[in-house]
Amino acid sequence: MTNFSFQLLATCSQTKARAGVFSTPHGPVETPRFMPVGTLANVKTITPAQLKDTGAQMVLSNTYHLHIQPGEAIVAAGGGLHKFMGWNGPMLTDSGGFQVFSLSEMRNITEAGVTFRSPYNGQVIELTPERSIEIQNILGADVIMAFDECPPYPATRQEVEAATDRTYRWLERCIVAHQRTDQALFPIVQGGVYLDLRACAAEALAKLDMPGYAIGGVSVGEPPELMAEIVKTTAPLLPHNKPRYLMGVGTYREMAIGIASGVDLFDCVIPTRWARHATAIVSGERWNLKNAKFREDFTPLDETCPCYACQNFSRAYISHLVRAQEILAYTLLSIHNITELVRFTQKIRESILSDRFITDFGHWLKDEEVTGD
Ligand code: GUN
Ligand code: ZN
Repeated sequence: MTNFSFQLLATCSQTKARAGVFSTPHGPVETPRFMPVGTLANVKTITPAQLKDTGAQMVLSNTYHLHIQPGEAIVAAGGGLHKFMGWNGPMLTDSGGFQVFSLSEMRNITEAGVTFRSPYNGQVIELTPERSIEIQNILGADVIMAFDECPPYPATRQEVEAATDRTYRWLERCIVAHQRTDQALFPIVQGGVYLDLRACAAEALAKLDMPGYAIGGVSVGEPPELMAEIVKTTAPLLPHNKPRYLMGVGTYREMAIGIASGVDLFDCVIPTRWARHATAIVSGERWNLKNAKFREDFTPLDETCPCYACQNFSRAYISHLVRAQEILAYTLLSIHNITELVRFTQKIRESILSDRFITDFGHWLKDEEVTGD
């Protein structure tokens, strides 16, 4: 593994929160950090320069989508994912399995892998652990994800146990298939809502000495208290000296719980998806800019926000753009929403460095989550 390291700078005295630096071949990621999603080799409606200004450091893209279109061969011919999309910072690709389960019709899962019909041209596509890793090796992100099976919620203990065991066998195949030392392969803990299965999976993966670890299979419809339990149980079992990534999580409260449990990285489509639904995230709340009260409100979305949208435009202006369905509305809201979530994790990081996490952010946690076990 070349050019990867994880340096812990501080740990919280009251929780398992930590601040660190994850170094990748395309630069450092200061953790904890929120990562925006650039599914199809772009973060929807904003340019890489605008993205950089939000404070985002690492960006996520998807094997499933890029394989379907334009295909990894074109990305490779374009110089690899970083060059093709004009983002020279750290990148991560998800492995595709999760997207097949959530987005495709006519999918079939066997021990070999997953087959599904391309929503783009109807062609039958097979993704296996080997194929997913091969595609991710070709795409060239800094971090690539193991090909996993995320069981649905609800699912029986037997079903979840089978998926968790299969995820481990698939990981072994991913490790064999992985060819590039300049890419870090992260395994994914599954186990559904069964805490003992989570613990077993985390302990088995922890033995493997991987460059980082992910917790998957959350935010799939389980009640929020259960997600908190899962994260609290699982994260501390993963190696202390490696980055930990909680997949698909990006609300203030969920990130606060994750960070208090020792998670370092998060991703979520919320800031960009909500932006396209005319929704701004302000102090963790959702504001719909179509609301009449914004029509003549000439203050910025968030007085305290340093983003380009808040520094230059009013709620009234963005409300006007939204009503007129101007594309700029979605650009400005995406810039703001990503800045808001990245800044939340940046501020938490600073609070951990000065051991003020609970003082400054404890209100996002319920009492029993504060002290841990
Ligand atoms: N994104 C959100 N959750 C998951 C998961 O469980 N597995 C993968 N591969 N990606 C995810
Ligand atoms: Zn803003």
